[in-house]
Amino acid sequence: MKKLEPPKAFNRRAFLETAGYGAATLMLWPFISSCDGQSSKAASPVMDPDFIPDIDLELSAVERDIPILSGPKTKVWVFEGDLITGDKEALQASKGSYLGPTIKVRKGQKIRIRFQNNIPEETIVHWHGMHVPAEDDGHPQDVIHSGETYIYEYEVMNRAGTYWYHPHPHGRTGPQVYNGLAGLLLVTDEEEQQLNLPKGEFDRPVVIQDRSFDEDNQLVYIQSRMDSMRGFLGDKILINGNAEKVLNLKSGCAYRLRLLNGSNSRIYKLAWEDGSPITVIGIDGSLLSAPKELPYLMLGPAKRADVWLDLSDKPEGIRLTMKNESFPLEVMSGGMMMEGGETSLPQGSEYEVFTVKTTSSGSNEYSLPQQLVKSNYIDPSTAENLNNPRQFSFAMDHMDWTINGRTWQTTGVVDEETVKLGSTEVWELINSSAMMGNDSGGGMMGDGGMMGGDEGMMSGGDMMGNMMQMPHPVHIHQVQFNILERDVSDVDSQLWEAVKEGFINDGWQDTVLLLPGMKARVIMEFKDFKGLFVYHCHNLEHEDMGMMRNFKIT
Ligand code: C2O
Ligand code: CU
Ligand code: CU
Repeated sequence: MKKLEPPKAFNRRAFLETAGYGAATLMLWPFISSCDGQSSKAASPVMDPDFIPDIDLELSAVERDIPILSGPKTKVWVFEGDLITGDKEALQASKGSYLGPTIKVRKGQKIRIRFQNNIPEETIVHWHGMHVPAEDDGHPQDVIHSGETYIYEYEVMNRAGTYWYHPHPHGRTGPQVYNGLAGLLLVTDEEEQQLNLPKGEFDRPVVIQDRSFDEDNQLVYIQSRMDSMRGFLGDKILINGNAEKVLNLKSGCAYRLRLLNGSNSRIYKLAWEDGSPITVIGIDGSLLSAPKELPYLMLGPAKRADVWLDLSDKPEGIRLTMKNESFPLEVMSGGMMMEGGETSLPQGSEYEVFTVKTTSSGSNEYSLPQQLVKSNYIDPSTAENLNNPRQFSFAMDHMDWTINGRTWQTTGVVDEETVKLGSTEVWELINSSAMMGNDSGGGMMGDGGMMGGDEGMMSGGDMMGNMMQMPHPVHIHQVQFNILERDVSDVDSQLWEAVKEGFINDGWQDTVLLLPGMKARVIMEFKDFKGLFVYHCHNLEHEDMGMMRNFKIT
């Protein structure tokens, strides 16, 4: 059963439109709930009596003090969950960690989530990668006050894959995720079940994040404007919220490791220290059609990769480290130029990410299937604009992070961001930054005049040149897309040489890491739900500074 645009959401928007608020006013409009008690879920958490959930749960965002490092506890914000109805498996607490509970659902199930905001600022939860109605997507306009509840009710329509959830208020997503608000949402389906992939203790989350702590073990966020322009980089890697970064596994067994880069802006080039390849079986919103062996894996912010780890020939008592290999990005993205922006763990340097320890042994029940799922990719010839894709250019414009020259407006959306329900489209996502890098004198950008020649700004010379050279992990809500191609002709060749074997274009994805100068063509279908959704850079600091826009499905 498909829910088409529910009347509630429609009414809410209709109310705002007829009330005659322009986009500028809406940006200042603090809470939808305060003006529209009848139709807003925020003001009156009304459940749909016709919606019979298979899984019904309560999720709250709360402040807690938890031990992360030895010594004083750390103040964090966490998601905590409580199952009201449904299989016990559906909600698994992340014990001893600030990470939210892992939510496990099956395609076709109906889930209700009663989200309660108990942190001292407004927020809303977004289900990253999920195909849900607009009012269930966690749009920034749906933020609720501290003390309020938001009811999500939707059917799981996604393929089996590794999804996640996190806050999505405009301007505060970075700090809220940083403070701890994030969790995994795992979807399974029949096709996956038939593959007999590792389950239970053999299906392990590996959430990779970076954090910085002060002397009292408290989290330290952005320290300077330059920090926020570049995006937050911490000096410590945490795995599943733990500073120890050790996975205790059984020798003799095979594992499915669900990697999520939950960092605000850090990019990883992951490689096993012993030189064995990384076997990837899934990415973002799907399994791959067949396992893929890579010498190393590039994992940008918000990206997930499911990795097969076979310990069947490993004895008890060994350590196997996943490290970050070096790549020449920090130099280009500003490590040199920013005072106060340095970190002891620069982007693209070499460091340990996590270590697998075989602390006991078991017998293996799982073997790696040579074929995984039918990919059923979108036939490019069905796109209405295959040879004339919509172009979205991610760039800095006068110290603002922009998309096609525009920054965030709460409900603002323009024609080139409006698509038709039922259509299949190709979008070309462009990281324009490399084009500016080498040309510190000039006005910029042939068409569109996105970067008006502002001499004053560019005469910052190398500094601005470097600043422009930023990667942008671009994410589109509501859809899973196929990547048709990456054009790297404008990517620095030294950088590209160092990372080119770590990208995956297969599978169904929702986020694509655009290196400086990279262009990616992605194809997607807009189906089932009308409404306003967002697309944005998933460098959370860029997103918070406005590198986010709406698109509208009509
Ligand atoms: Cu992971 Cu718009 O979000
Ligand atoms: Cu998302
Ligand atoms: Cu960005």
